[in-house]
Amino acid sequence: MSNNKNDISTDGLTFLEDGEVLYDDLYLLSETDEKGIVEYASDSFLKIANMNREDLIGQPHNVVRHPDMPRAAFKSLWDDVQSKGFWTGYVKNARKGGGHYWVYATVLRSVDKSGNTKYVSIRIKPSREDIKKALELYATLD
Ligand SMILES: Cc1cc2nc3c(=O)[nH]c(=O)nc-3n(C[C@H](O)[C@H](O)[C@H](O)COP(=O)(O)O)c2cc1C
Repeated sequence: MSNNKNDISTDGLTFLEDGEVLYDDLYLLSETDEKGIVEYASDSFLKIANMNREDLIGQPHNVVRHPDMPRAAFKSLWDDVQSKGFWTGYVKNARKGGGHYWVYATVLRSVDKSGNTKYVSIRIKPSREDIKKALELYATLD
């Protein structure tokens, strides 16, 4: 948590001066079809993303992508969920209207009743130390 007197807290969100947004929610959920088109998002995810359902549902999940994220991270996400059925990693997402937030995401593959492949991402809040390590790693990746 931050202690800067200029940080603003409202509705479980804290807005830091550098654009990072911290959140109180325990987890942020979304679900996609096999192509990564969003089919479900939890209220907690919509809140931190600053989006309405219409902004996200039916859209490719890269609508929340932050340009600082290396392509290699998403290549490993898709390679792993398709081959092993899961991926875990740190993701910096862009907030609609400006700002960003970090998550530690676990992405899982599942199959619905009709036999269609789905992917679900369960995101929790990473520690400051984890974010620092992710930044160091991502600085070395394409
Ligand atoms: C279930 C699921 C959740 C995802 N969540 C995110 C996310 O929160 N942020 C993000 O940038 N990409 C997320 N992705 C990856 C995107 O589908 C996409 O690969 C990524 O944003 C990079 O965009 P690009 O593939 O167009 O380069 C998710 C994918 C899946 C399957």
